Amino acid sequence: MAILLPGGAGYIGSHTAVELLNSGKDIVIIDNFSNSKPEVLDKIKTITGKDFKFYEIDYKDKEALDKVFSENYIEAVINFAGYKAVGESVQKPIEYYENNIGGCLALLDVMRKYNCKKFIFSSSATVYGDPEVIPITEECKVGGTTNPYGTTKLFIEQILKDVYASDNTMDICILRYFNPVGAHSSGLIGEEPQGIPNNLMPYVVRVAAGILPELSVFGDDYDTPDGTGVRDYIHVVDLAKGHVKALEKIDKENQGLYIYNLGTGTGYSVLDMVKAFENATGKEVKYKITGRRAGDIATCYADPKKAEEELGWVAEKTLEDMCKDSWNYIQTNK
Ligand code: WQD
Repeated sequence: MAILLPGGAGYIGSHTAVELLNSGKDIVIIDNFSNSKPEVLDKIKTITGKDFKFYEIDYKDKEALDKVFSENYIEAVINFAGYKAVGESVQKPIEYYENNIGGCLALLDVMRKYNCKKFIFSSSATVYGDPEVIPITEECKVGGTTNPYGTTKLFIEQILKDVYASDNTMDICILRYFNPVGAHSSGLIGEEPQGIPNNLMPYVVRVAAGILPELSVFGDDYDTPDGTGVRDYIHVVDLAKGHVKALEKIDKENQGLYIYNLGTGTGYSVLDMVKAFENATGKEVKYKITGRRAGDIATCYADPKKAEEELGWVAEKTLEDMCKDSWNYIQTNK
């Protein structure tokens, strides 16, 4: 019996692969390396001392998926595959809808054929749009996404609700990630954005490393304590552990559709992040204040109580761990 990880060579997938292997689970990874590298697979093996099967396939390819299911007893799927660049999604909406939604539908269809009933999906806090209350609970209204990437997450959540309504012998768990940052403490796996990063932490790390000249802080006139945007940054290893807990939950409960926020419950501003990074690493992060970035909101952080109560999961790593591990990763992989 194995857990299938589409996109398991990617940033969050690889960290979750490590935690699943460490918890004694067998895994099968599928990936087409559209935004990841084959070396990651060996690094997962080095960290855990464990082996697993891998197929280089596109998760939209139902014939190839069928082969994976016929050759392995897949008890659950945790879907990490998907395009995730917000800006790119505005330029390439057709590719984003086709890949993210098409891939998910292909997985669900092949799962149905093989009577595989457990599905965990990587969703995002982006489904809340501009949140109606802070901290954000799972009961908050969803919708009002500002880019095709976010809308693919919203649509897939709806698809999963419809699939569950049609077959309530399924176990479906939707995990809404806040802002994943950091890397594995070994320095072997971490985030590898292509080109100039869009997200804050990878940008900060590259400014500190001298790869980029300075950070642009997108707006200091938000209604927040220092005027810069506030987010809920969560260490990727904590996030990965959340998936192990979600799997335990659906194994135990048998049949249901569950939704959890995975965040720390604490919001930090852009300038808090700059200071925390400087303190943790001793490196200077040059920055200038510029105008707001289109589509950004002032404040977004989770109420993570439901995950604590129902999954027994809480984020344990500190902001210092997030900064140090991000820095360690770029030092090891420059
Ligand atoms: C954080 C804060 C920026 C870069 C996005 C997606 C979300 C999820 C995570 C993942 C904001 C500010 C950023 C910079 C800055 N997607 N910032 N200068 O926008 O909360 O979420 O990434 O795959 O779906 O929407 O994260 O890291 O881009 O920004 O000032 O160069 O940092 O304005 O306040 P965001 P982020």
